[in-house]
Parts: sequence; C-alpha cells; structure tokens
Amino acid sequence: MSTPASSATVSRGHWSSRFGFILAAAGSAIGLGNIWRFPYTAGANGGGAWVLLYLLFVLAIGVPVLLCELSVGRHTQRSPVSAFKALVPGTWWPVVGAIGVLAGFGILSFYSVIAGLTVGYVYLSLTGRFAAAIDAETSAEIFGSVASNGPLIAALTGFFLLATALIVRRGVSGGIERASRILMPIFFGFLVLLVVRALTLPGGAEGFAFMFNPDFSKMTIGGAVSALGQALFSLSLGMGAMITYGSYLSKDENIPISAASVATFDTSIAMLGGLIVFPTLFTVGASPTAGPGLIFVVMASIFNTLPLGGVFSVAFYTLLAIAALTSTISLLEVIVSYFVDDRGMARGKAAWLVAAGCFVLALPSALSLGAVGPLSNLLGERFSEIAGGSGFLDLANFVFGTIFLTVGAMLICIFVGWKWGIPAARAAIETGGHRLPGAPLWGFVVRYVCPLATLILLLYGVFVGSNW
Ligand code: TRP
Repeated sequence: MSTPASSATVSRGHWSSRFGFILAAAGSAIGLGNIWRFPYTAGANGGGAWVLLYLLFVLAIGVPVLLCELSVGRHTQRSPVSAFKALVPGTWWPVVGAIGVLAGFGILSFYSVIAGLTVGYVYLSLTGRFAAAIDAETSAEIFGSVASNGPLIAALTGFFLLATALIVRRGVSGGIERASRILMPIFFGFLVLLVVRALTLPGGAEGFAFMFNPDFSKMTIGGAVSALGQALFSLSLGMGAMITYGSYLSKDENIPISAASVATFDTSIAMLGGLIVFPTLFTVGASPTAGPGLIFVVMASIFNTLPLGGVFSVAFYTLLAIAALTSTISLLEVIVSYFVDDRGMARGKAAWLVAAGCFVLALPSALSLGAVGPLSNLLGERFSEIAGGSGFLDLANFVFGTIFLTVGAMLICIFVGWKWGIPAARAAIETGGHRLPGAPLWGFVVRYVCPLATLILLLYGVFVGSNW
C-alpha cells in the first residue's frame, strides 16, 4: 500500500497518447458548463465584471488545482479514495475522495437531466417544432411545456445515462478516449459555424460588449461565489475527476503542458459559448437573467428567423448533447473507478449499477424542472439569491456544483500544500523530466492563496452579506 508509484500500473487502463488524454480531459471539462451554465450565470450576474472574475479564478485557482489533481492521480495511478489511502495510509484523507464520489453522484444527477433535455431539443429541431417559435415568449411556452412533462424528461435523462454507461463500461482507451476522438472534432466544427453566425447577427456587437465590458457596480459576493464555482465546475475540478483521469496517464507524460492545454481549451470554449448566446439574445431582445432555461428559450427563438435556421438549431442542440456526453462520461467514470478500484467490482457491472443509482437520484431534478419547487420557500430568500433559482435542480446545482466543488478544491490544496508537501508534489509533476514553470509561485498559491480564498468566499458567500 505504501509503494503506490510503482505497484498498480500493470493491469490498469491507460490513455494511448498524450493527444488522446488531452482530448478526453478537454472533453470532460468542455460541457454543458461552457454553453449552458456559463452563459446563464454570466447573464444573471450582469456580464463583463463577472466574466472577469471567472477568468481570474480560472487562472489563480483553477489551474493550480488542476495541477494538484493531475499530480495526485498520475503519481498514485489510482482513483481518488485509494489515491489518498496510498499516499497517507491510516489517515482520514480518503474521506476527501469519498466526498468527491458523492459530489459526482450529485452533479451527474442534475447534469444528466439537462443533457437529456438537449436530446429532446435535437428532436424538436428535427421535427420543425420551432417553426412557430418566432419570439422569446412562444419559445418560452415550448420550453415550459417540454420541461413540465415529467415522464418525458425522466425518459430522456434515463436515455442519456444509458448512453454514458455504454461508453464507460468499455474502459479508458477503448471507450472514453475513442468516444472523445470521434465526438470532439464534430463539436469544434459545429461551434465555429455557430459563433460566426451569432456574431454576424444584429445583436452581435451588443452581445460582445455585454461579455467584455465590465460594469463593476454589478459585482456581488454571491456573484464571486458563483464565479469560483463556475471556474471549478467548468474545469471538472474539486471532486477528483482529474485525479481519476490523471491516474490513467503514463509516467513520462508532460503534466504542465497537458494542464495548460486543457485549461486553455475549456476557457476559450466558454467564451465562444457566450459569444453564441449573448449576440442571439440581444438580437431577439430577450433578458439575460432567465436562469437555467436561458439557452433553450433564447436559442430556439432565433433559429427560424435565420436562413437555414433548421440546420442551425439541429447543429446547436447536437453540439450541446455531444459536449454533455463527454462530460457525463467523466462524472460516471469517477464513481465507477471507485467501485472498480476500491470495491473490486467488475467495470461493466459498476457502470450499470451507478448509472441506475444516478437515474433514481435524478428523478427529483427531472420532475421539478418545469416547476418552481417549494424548496426555496423552505430554505428562504437568502438561498435563492445565492443559488440563483428555486427548483430542486437549482438546489442540486448549487450544493454539488458549487459548494461541494469549492470545499473539495480547498481540501485538495490543503492536502497537497500541507500534508503531501509541495516538494513531493512538484517532483511527481516533473517526473519524466518536464519542468513546471513558475513552480515556487504554484507552491505559494496552493499553500496559501487557494485555501484562504476558497474559505473566505465560502463563509462570506453562504453566511454573510450579499454585497461587497
Ligand atoms: N466540466 C463539465 C462541464 O463544464 C462538467 C463536469 C464533468 C464536471 N466532470 C466534472 C464538473 C467533474 C465537476 C467535476 O460541463
């Protein structure tokens, strides 16, 4: 148990190449977070200033945490719980891995609902349902009627989880990596097409300005909490997904370059996601503060006003479904690898069982999608203000997708900075002879900046006032 670096490598799956790993890790990072969650959260928080905060958190906290997770994973060649067991036997640190597995369940349970919805919207686009959706109101009605159809949403969610399990059961290079190699290029193709289309709409300049002209009077502490949560969520950090993906990396892989590539890809695509949504939104005169339904309502209302609108709407929702799939794969993989590595379960069985469990957990989110849940009344205004919504899905989104990830990132930094130690972690990153540029700065950030910043934001955001 105490010689993790050399022991567990033999029977374990591995990525077939660096490019394969980067595609899979970027596939995990790039998802509904970039094109669904990023635009509606930026929209609800006033645009530019929030986007700036988000970028700051990606650089100052996201990238350092990404390096921590990859180094723990690659060094131990194990999934989160047993990685901690291997590094610090006999301590309570594996609990951090377990919290991550729990967070994975929680995130997957609401994520797969939105992912299922994207599949539903591909179908609606194909059948020409948006022909009538010439304005934001009609489109909102269509969204309402789909979202409040509980059995339909539940079925779509189940379908999506099934597809995810089918890939994850095939393992690392044969399942996850192969799917990413096929799906990611299709995704990029659609993305470029849509950005060009959106920026040449009448609302193009206004949309651009909304994202990049910061209005600092709109900054709130709740916004800062959500910006940090979004930075972690978008990079798939704080719950061990990158420990798991790192555990399939070989010892001579260049971690600094891989981390930089994944972060650059992911962040650029969030920006492009915004550049598709905001120009479209201002073209139809819709409000950016619509919440989780934003992209469904807004985007659906524009397609039929455009030449080849039908093609664009199919492209857009297919794009989302693909992005979501490479992310649900990584969420499921974290949980499955726990059952495989720590419980000795066969991969196929674990994939089916976990997907089925997630389906059950997803039902409250699926059935409350169209309704304003009574939960917000129970939890009070303060919660709705921070969580930015009211239904069960919003609750899961906030608790697992923001709070759990922030706590997880904080604990991982404390672990690497104070328990495992910066010198050991740095040596693990640099195994294979690839230097980590700015290593002393990284050490300082991991030891002091990340734990303090995450702690302050958590306490302040959750318990104290809502304004700066
Ligand atoms: N990063 C993905 C997105 O932006 C979501 C995701 C996949 C995720 N795996 C994760 C988030 C692990 C947190 C942790 O859509």
